Formats: sequence, structure tokens, C-alpha cells
Amino acid sequence: MKRSNILLLIILIYVTTACGHKETEDTAVKDRKAGLVEADVAVFYPDEFDSVQTLPSLAIIKDLEYTNDLPDDWNIKPEFSANDSASVVKIAFLEGTDLYGNGEVTGPLRRNGTKIKLWNTDNFGYGKFDGKQLYQAHPWVMGVRPDGSSFGIIADNTYRQTFELNNPITITSNGPSFRVIVIEKDSPEEVLKSLADLTGKMNLPPLWALGYQQSRYSYYPDSQVREIAKTFREKQIPCDVIWMDINYMDGFRIFTFDEKGFPDPKKLNDDLHSMDIKAVYMIDPGVKKDSAYSIYQQGSEGNHWVQDADGNEFNGEVWPGQCAFPDFTRPETREWWSGLYQDFMQLGIDGIWNDMNEPAVFDGPEGSMPFDNIHRGGGYLPAGEHIRYHNVYGLLMVKASREGMMKAKPEERPFILSRANYLGGQRYAATWSGDNVSTDAHMKMSIPMTITLGLSGQPFNGPDIGGFTGDTNEELLAQWMSLAPYYPFCRNHSAIDVIRQEPWSFGKKTEDVSRTAVNRRYKMMPYLYTLFHEASLTGVPVMRPVFFADIKDKKLRKEEQAFLLGEQLLVVPRWATEPALPAGDWKDIPFEKKDDGYQATVKLKDGGIVPMTKLIQSTEEYSADSLTLYVNINEQGKAEGELYNDAGQGYEYESGGYEWLHFLINSENESSFALEVNKKEGNWDKNHTYRLALVTDGGIKYTEWKTEDLTFSLKN
Ligand code: GLC
Repeated sequence: MKRSNILLLIILIYVTTACGHKETEDTAVKDRKAGLVEADVAVFYPDEFDSVQTLPSLAIIKDLEYTNDLPDDWNIKPEFSANDSASVVKIAFLEGTDLYGNGEVTGPLRRNGTKIKLWNTDNFGYGKFDGKQLYQAHPWVMGVRPDGSSFGIIADNTYRQTFELNNPITITSNGPSFRVIVIEKDSPEEVLKSLADLTGKMNLPPLWALGYQQSRYSYYPDSQVREIAKTFREKQIPCDVIWMDINYMDGFRIFTFDEKGFPDPKKLNDDLHSMDIKAVYMIDPGVKKDSAYSIYQQGSEGNHWVQDADGNEFNGEVWPGQCAFPDFTRPETREWWSGLYQDFMQLGIDGIWNDMNEPAVFDGPEGSMPFDNIHRGGGYLPAGEHIRYHNVYGLLMVKASREGMMKAKPEERPFILSRANYLGGQRYAATWSGDNVSTDAHMKMSIPMTITLGLSGQPFNGPDIGGFTGDTNEELLAQWMSLAPYYPFCRNHSAIDVIRQEPWSFGKKTEDVSRTAVNRRYKMMPYLYTLFHEASLTGVPVMRPVFFADIKDKKLRKEEQAFLLGEQLLVVPRWATEPALPAGDWKDIPFEKKDDGYQATVKLKDGGIVPMTKLIQSTEEYSADSLTLYVNINEQGKAEGELYNDAGQGYEYESGGYEWLHFLINSENESSFALEVNKKEGNWDKNHTYRLALVTDGGIKYTEWKTEDLTFSLKN
């Protein structure tokens, strides 16, 4: 063979084995039943394992080939059994271990003793099935032992299944036998990095997606959208995005516009852009069964619909009435669906909101499709019944949507929000926790929910701030908006029939509290973006449980009121009662001169540095040129922190167009501080102007601004 051919062959082998999802059928017969696939990652196969029944995995993006035998002291060993109707796995673990994970769940952060069902469910107000069956499926549990050493368990199948988190953990699937992947590491953070390595990472979002976002079901007509945007600017409450819910459509037909209410969407989006506001539009999977509607015609001609058990087009009711549903297991269907975004995105649409993709079917069993509906598959996916593909319907939909958006706007980073998803779905979309309720209990529960999704691979998530269904009130909105700065995904959204809940809806007090809170978010943007960058590289979440600050401190393991934002900030909501906080000299950051009684207490880690910037009204104005470094000097007279900075949009960062800086402060004495700025990575060489904000027990002390000679002294 010629040298060039050999090279080509090597490249080909590399591309097919190493690059992302291997889109071929993995039918390799496993000759061993358990072994290591990497140091600290083991895979276990049941005796009756038949790979075509559950593989290829839609969670795992890596080939899992055995490399070594299981070490003798391997601790977590699944035991498989099966009967006529179920495949069961039992996994025993050390007593005293705390369990976390399972994705989108109600209830406590610490999951020991809980039972949930993984069957993506449109669960209005979390009222169905006692809230134990929500919109997403994460067959994933993480255990943290008393000494901090940790394990993770993936039940690698998409079928309907229950997780009972007793000792042993019992996973009962209504499908065939499946493999189990076990990660074993020294810390929960290491486990999460390994999970991200196996299931993929969130792509770095556009900076605007980190801003404050305002939504309602629905702003209608377009003049109301403009009015909302104008009011944010007039009232000087920062805002980056306004969301278009289903009423922008013509009779809820996706990819259409209501002629009366939204006659000129391009003009509307242009107007929003001129106010530095982005526009996100909803697209649901259900396509109205209407022979005069072009999308339905195309879908029928292309044979794109999910079929019933007899092989006929399946129809079920959603917002527009009877609908047909794209069969996203078919490559041709994903291709067609992707293409629909081409013209749509050219109307100046910035982001997409994929909802109802459990899929929700109002007149179907458990609010979805019959278990025996047919998905025809193709490419790397075998044909299968709905019971196999239900939990990944949303994942396959957002995968296709994302591809379409990227083709339509190749220069821009896509932003998609999805209600349904599955383990690994962070690769394609951010998420929110669906139709919560405007109650104190749901506000408080949003903290463990957001953390838990982060501990399950999905860093980019948050609740409907203010609550979706039920009327919110002045007090609740003030309290909930006070949490807005800290959710990774920060959007106020409410239902069609409830009281208005924009920040100003209850008068001056709530408006002021909201402004103060959202201002905090924008000031912290350099730090937030640095955390998102970290999450996109490692999978370590943005919002973290308090026990990450000290994994050996058992007292912290249940804490679900307070939380960490990255490593440096500890946030204690105002309503928290007796929160368990980590040891160390964490110091309060006094963001404002006057306390409004609502804002959370934000504490800076001993020896930590957090970069913040000046107040802006939208990330369009964002700049990291002038940074105030909030510093908590430790006993050794030192502090450390980081900044990630890039264009905030586009892909220049993939070829080095960014700066990733490390800050180190040494204090010679109590009033003199030397700042060292070292570049960790990136080709950017920007001049920054810095000042220090020394956070002390006696309040905050600012130094002068400096661009060169970074030795600072305290003003008197
Ligand atoms: C679903 C969504 C909600 C949306 C509504 C109308 O209930 O969860 O966010 O507003 O549908 O589209």
C-alpha cells in the first residue's frame, strides 16, 4: 500500500473510532462479563445480554472496550437478574454513603430512600404520580462515601425503569437486560468529570444565554413583546432575552406565524436586537394534522411520522388538536426536521425552545404515546417500540434541532432549551424544570432540583422563576427573583391564566429587589462565564452542593438551601434556616450599600478571587476590560482565582481566540498587594485595568485602578 493510502487508512480508523458518537451498530459479542474500560471505569454485562436490544447507547459517546480485568478490591458490583416482565439490577454499597443524582427529580438533594420512575412525563405542577415522574430520564446515581471517595452508576438503557435508592440500589427496567457502567473515583468532582467524559459535555453557550430572560405563555401580540423590552430598558433592569411561547404561531402550527399578532417577525426581532435583546421561539414536535398545512404535507410525503402498532400514522392531541409526530429515530426524519430551521432562523431568531417533547400527547396513555407505537430507526438505530425510544424522543429531537440551527447560522453558537431529555442530553440543549408552581415550597425545592441536574451531567438548567402555574405574589416574587443571579439558566416564565409576574408587576418594592438581584448577576458575569467555560470542558457543574467545599464533612451532605456557585462563592438564600455551612473563613460580599432584606448572602472563599465587571443592561455591552477583583486574602496573605474571556459568540475560541487567566495575589502587608496575572491558555493578549475589592470583616475596601505595575495599595 502507498504511504498516503496507509495514512488515509489510519485517519479513517481514527475518525470512526475516536470521534464522538460511533454511528454504527455495536454488535460485538462480549466474551467477558465485567472488566475495566479505563482506569476507574468498569462495565458489567448480564449473562443474557444481547447488544442489539439496548445498544448503541444514546447516553455514552465512547467505545467501551475492555482493557483490564476488574481489580480484586473493586467495590461496586451490580447483580443482575431477570423475570418475564423486568430486568433487575441490585447494587450494594457501603453503609453511610450518601446518594445523589437521577436527574430531574422533586424531593431532597440527598436521594437515599427515594423511588422514582424514568418515563419522561408532561407533569403540570408536578401533580401527576406524586411528582415522581418528571420530564427527563437520567439512569444515573452517584454515591459519596463517608471519606469522600465516590462512585457513579449508569444503567445504560433507555427503557421505562424505576430507581429505588435503598441499600442495595434496585433498578427495575421494563426492557431487556442492559449493561451497567460503574465509575470509581476519589471525589464526587472526579466522578462528574468521568461522567462528562463518557456522556459528553455542554458546548460553550453564547454569552447572551447567561443573561436574564423574560418569558410568558404568551406575550401576544408583538406590540406586547416590544412593550416588555422597552419597559426593561426604561426601568433599567438588565435583560438579554424575550421568549415567544406558542401563541406567536398560526393555530399552534409549528414554523408558522399568527398573521394578526405576529405579522412581521423579522421586524420584531430586528427591533428587539436594536434594544440589545435576543428572541427565542418555541417549536414543539407535534405537527397539526391538517392537509392544507405545508409541514404536515412534507412530513406525510417524506413518511416521517411515528406509527401505531399497525404501521399507520399515529395521531394524538396536543395544543393544535390532532397531531402527527416526527419519528426522530429515522436519519431521514432528523435531516428533514433540521432543514426546517433554515428559513426560520433567518428571520432573526436567536434561540429555540423545544417543548412538549416527552412527547406530550394529551389523549394518550400517561399523557404520551402507546408503548407499542413503532419507531422505524435507521442508520445506527434499530427499529423499536415506543417503550424503548420514549425516554430519548426529546434527546433525538434536540439533536436534530441543533444540527439545523448550526447549519442555518454556522457562525453562531446554538442555544436550545428543551423540556424533555435523557442522560447525556447536555450535548444538545439546556433545560428548565417544566411547569412548577408559584409556591414557597417550589421556590425552595428549585435549589436541590437545579443542583441535582448538575450532579447528573446537565449544568445548564434552572426553574421558571416566579413559578409557572398558580398566581405568584409580591413577597414570593421578591424572594424568587433574589435567587435569579445564581441559577445557571435564569428565566422568569409563567402560565397563560395567571397573574403577571414581570419584575415590576407588584409595584416598586419587588421591582427594586429584582433590579438589585439581576444587577448582581450581570456584575458577576465574568465569573459566571468562567464557570460555564469550566463546565463545558470538564462537566463540573456551575451550581454545586455545599458539600463540594469539604467532601469529608458529613454535616454538609444534606444541605440544600445554601449552595456553591463554582468553587469560590457560597450562596445562602435569605430564607435559609440553620444552613450547614463549610468551615473556613468565608467572608460576606457586601454587593450593595443598603440591604433590602431579600438578597442572598454571598460569601467569598478564604483565599479566593472572583472577577466582576461594571453594571450593564445586556451582555451586548459586556466587556472584561475593567475588572474589579473581589479578594478574600487568606492567612498566608494570598488569594487565587481565574477568568475566562472570549468573543461571547461564534467559534473563534476554538482556534485560540480567548484568554484564560490565572490571578494570584500576594499581600506584603495589610495595605499593599501584588497581583500576578498569568495566562493559562489562549491567544488573546488584552490589556485589562484592575482594581481590588478587599472583602474583610469590616466591609469592603477598594484600591485604585491599575493597568500596569500591578501593585495595589489601599485608599484611606
Ligand atoms: C408547557 C410548557 C410551558 C409553556 C406551555 C405552552 O406547559 O412547559 O413552559 O408555557 O407548554 O407552550
